[in-house]
Amino acid sequence: MRITGKTRLAGIMGWPVSHSRSPALHNFWLDEHGIDGAYVPLPVEPGQLERALRALPALGFRGCNLTIPHKQKAMAIVDRVDPVARRIGAVNTVLVADDGTLEAYNTDVYGFRENLRNYAPDWDPAAGSAVVLGAGGAARAVVASLIEDGVSEIRLVNRTAARAEEIAAELGDGQCRISVYRWNARETVLADAGLLVNTTSLGMAGEPALEIDLAQLPSQAVVVDIVYVPLDTALLVEARRRGYRAVDGLGMLLHQGRPGFEAWFGTPVRVTRELRAAVLTTLAGPR
Ligand code: ATR
Repeated sequence: MRITGKTRLAGIMGWPVSHSRSPALHNFWLDEHGIDGAYVPLPVEPGQLERALRALPALGFRGCNLTIPHKQKAMAIVDRVDPVARRIGAVNTVLVADDGTLEAYNTDVYGFRENLRNYAPDWDPAAGSAVVLGAGGAARAVVASLIEDGVSEIRLVNRTAARAEEIAAELGDGQCRISVYRWNARETVLADAGLLVNTTSLGMAGEPALEIDLAQLPSQAVVVDIVYVPLDTALLVEARRRGYRAVDGLGMLLHQGRPGFEAWFGTPVRVTRELRAAVLTTLAGPR
């Protein structure tokens, strides 16, 4: 990397932010394309978010990503929020417009869809219902993506039913029926499903295992885990063993970065094997 007087700047605001893999992702693309730019971690305390966001245009930043705990609060600070992000209730990408105003988007929807398209290109949204485990912020992005793709029925399974009910009420529309199921129904809802997505933290390093028997899932179904540490979760290993198409969560992380990068640095980028390998190396390293 060469920092000149004209270096374009972007970064990620979080608290803490040191765990974020976004700097590795964006700086890989900057190097790959020889762009005079830098993407830096920005540790921003919750009480400083407004001042930090408002400082972006003053400091010449093109924009930033947002991670925990800023994804919801930023919506009330920026000048414009994309309607899909508004429905999801969280933003992760901010662009500084030419006039210095701030626009915010949620690119997790895009990241989930592109990852699924890449690794399961013949998955048919119309074939069977989709089962989504979990009802946190990630589940909201996944549900929004599936609705945009034209899935007609989503079975939402969560330990806390009230959170799933909220998603059903806020995101469901005439085109897509969202039915809510109790956690102990997670195996029976698999019958005739075309897609299973885990958005819970179960199976993540340091978290309890996701216990689920896939016996009732039809053989042509696709199984997606958005957990990417470890990359091969027990769910994906079992799915592959049974012959299902299995899609890991790393691609979602990588693809969600593309819209922001392209807007800030003006160059289209791709998710390649080399990029996956570079980001995987950082996942194995210290957090
Ligand atoms: P994110 O915003 O990243 O999706 P989150 O809001 O903390 O994270 O959501 C975590 C999801 O994992 C939730 O659906 C949570 O279920 P609850 O809504 O009942 O909390 C789910 N989860 C976490 N631990 C779980 C467990 N031991 N059993 C079942 N679900 C669990």
